Amino acid sequence: MTGTTLIDGIGLLYTGDPEREEIPDAALVIDDGQVAWTGPASRAPDADERVDAGGRAVIPGFVDSHAHLVFAGDRTAEFQARMSGEPYTGGGIRTTVAATRGAGDAELATRAFGLVNEMLAQGTTTVEIKSGYGLSVEDERRCLEIATVLTDETTFLGAHVVPSDMDADAYVRLVAGEMLEACAPYAKWVDVFCERGAFDGDQTREILTAGVKAGLGARVHANQLTEGPGVRIACEIGAASADHCTHLTPADVDALASSGTVATLLPGAEFSTRSPYPDARRLLDAGATVALATDCNPGSSFTSSMAFCVALAVREMRMTPLEAIRAATYGGARALRRTDVGWLRRGARADLVILDAPSYVHLAYRPGVPLVHQVFHGGLLLEEDIQNPPSDVVL
Ligand code: NIG
Ligand code: FE
Repeated sequence: MTGTTLIDGIGLLYTGDPEREEIPDAALVIDDGQVAWTGPASRAPDADERVDAGGRAVIPGFVDSHAHLVFAGDRTAEFQARMSGEPYTGGGIRTTVAATRGAGDAELATRAFGLVNEMLAQGTTTVEIKSGYGLSVEDERRCLEIATVLTDETTFLGAHVVPSDMDADAYVRLVAGEMLEACAPYAKWVDVFCERGAFDGDQTREILTAGVKAGLGARVHANQLTEGPGVRIACEIGAASADHCTHLTPADVDALASSGTVATLLPGAEFSTRSPYPDARRLLDAGATVALATDCNPGSSFTSSMAFCVALAVREMRMTPLEAIRAATYGGARALRRTDVGWLRRGARADLVILDAPSYVHLAYRPGVPLVHQVFHGGLLLEEDIQNPPSDVVL
């Protein structure tokens, strides 16, 4: 794309930039795929093209920093059983592993591509994608290879659960050894499901340490179903993010507040497993950086909607609308250690959403309503062809 584009007539610009978070009656200039200028519309510079936002609100594209999109199979029955009172234990992961192992690359890629398109259409312009439903060297490798076509933020989650046909110690050795070696070329991050019934503290530390040694950044599924060592290990090891954070001790909250590890909350999981929500207020009031993400996966949270998560965070977790939009954009970017996305400041990638609403507050005020008017990704407007975005769009 050449030339500059001026978006004016913005009723409220939520920039995500802590220095100037909200600008009423605003305009924004895109140049060469990046944000070149933001400010009051009355002071906007000229540009080659003009888009009139018609008084709508503009926000940065959502940064969904936690998703499991490469899988096959269906777990409708498991969800139905839960809604009749069955608890969620994570045991259904093995159902998806069996289906994923039996699926060809084309089927897995088509499904993952479909979910990414669903996300884009709902205003998500950056997404992290994990493996974790292969659990063999080759199945994990191919799941990650598929993910690399869709995003730069790929995560090796060989340590999701121990496959039913393997001994736990042997599996940890495999994950930290041969599997990591095969997967590292396709991964930016390493993740472990640190939980009773999945991986304990020592196993988590061993796998994360091996991943970091192989050049990957660490992130942890921590304290989702029970209290445990996950958050502590994430903070000690300098992980970018501890995800879920549903069952925290006061020491866990202190550790998150005094470290560079983001607390990523995934309220779609509590919604879909009918579980108590994480205490976001306790984390925010202690000074932790909080992110919101979908955890999109076929078991615990089959939603691709960041707007839904924002609404849940506001209604169920007592976050203010401002705290929730911040966590869904700036917070997600921090959780991925990215400074080029998650905010609309000069030099950032021009990823933005024009909402069919006068304010970002409507994301929570009008839950379940499709409020995305237009999405720009890298300065490129994704219009009616949003179901078929250009093949070079990598989130
Ligand atoms: O983040 N907790 C572990 N992994 C996923 C759930 C995976 C599944 O149930 O398939 C999560 O909630
Ligand atoms: Fe997850």
